[in-house]
Amino acid sequence: MKATAIAPANIAFIKYWGKKDETWRLPVNNSISMNLSNLTTTTTVEFAEKYAEDIVIIDGFLSLADSSNQMRERIVTHLNQVRELAGIDLPAKVVSQNSFPMETGLSSSASGFAALTVAAVKAAGLSLSKKELSILARLGSGSACRSIPDGFVEWHTGETSEDSYAESLYPPEHWQLIDLVAILSVKRKQISSTQGQRLAETSAFFNTRLERIEEKISQLKIYLKERNFPGFGELIEAEALELHAVMMTSRPPLLYWYPETVALMQAARSWREAGLPVYFTVNTGHNVHLICEKKDVDSLEEKVKKLDFVRQYIINQPAKGARTVKQHLF
Ligand code: PMV
Repeated sequence: MKATAIAPANIAFIKYWGKKDETWRLPVNNSISMNLSNLTTTTTVEFAEKYAEDIVIIDGFLSLADSSNQMRERIVTHLNQVRELAGIDLPAKVVSQNSFPMETGLSSSASGFAALTVAAVKAAGLSLSKKELSILARLGSGSACRSIPDGFVEWHTGETSEDSYAESLYPPEHWQLIDLVAILSVKRKQISSTQGQRLAETSAFFNTRLERIEEKISQLKIYLKERNFPGFGELIEAEALELHAVMMTSRPPLLYWYPETVALMQAARSWREAGLPVYFTVNTGHNVHLICEKKDVDSLEEKVKKLDFVRQYIINQPAKGARTVKQHLF
């Protein structure tokens, strides 16, 4: 009863921010994302009697049951869902390895809960459809449901848990987009997305955002279909700024950006004015995603390399969704 899965993080072009149902993690709006080839989590799960209790090890660190780290609690709750579905009552050992820093705005909870879902389901001997896996992953972390299908993905908000899931709009080959993730600091954010989302409705801009969201989604889908990069880029950048406007005007306000975040946004704009088509987007955190087409990645890389405040960068292409792999982590 042991299985391993790898799952990509994803970058949302239309963001998920605010829930209509907290328990079931039903979002207020549909969201659209792309899976990222080089931001991944690999997770091995084994259910066995030999373990006295659930053991959770992330990036080499054991999460203790009595620690203030809420991540272990979320993982155990998720394992309980799988145990219930499979009708088993065995403790589990979970070992998880991220290819990138956690809790810095790079969606480690998306890749983490997608990998955990696929590995735990297989280890428990269940066989679920992609839709069922997406629903289950959503219960762990909303955006994790988008890391299950391949390539470019839409999450349908749904009215009940059974119809809130993500599906592929296009396979990874549809468009050679690049997401150059610029890591400005590996310091963990203080407020998680789950906590931050609870404040969304306190922003005066929240309803204004929702009034226009469907129109925005339709427009983004047209740009995606036509591979219209300037239209696409302008829209996703405006969307990221709108997300942060809601965050900053929540009560209490959420300000995730660092001075370096703004400096990189401004640099992207100046590169664009000088003829390099690149746009930015940012999630809950300070690190920045720079989006360009593959033909421009070398020029972008050259520019990013010259910025001393960019500590590290990771170049991503569109990727497949979560899947099992043969090699276990223990
Ligand atoms: O799935 P969560 O709870 O980590 O929330 C994700 C929130 C954003 O990254 C800001 C937006 C998104 O759609 O990924």
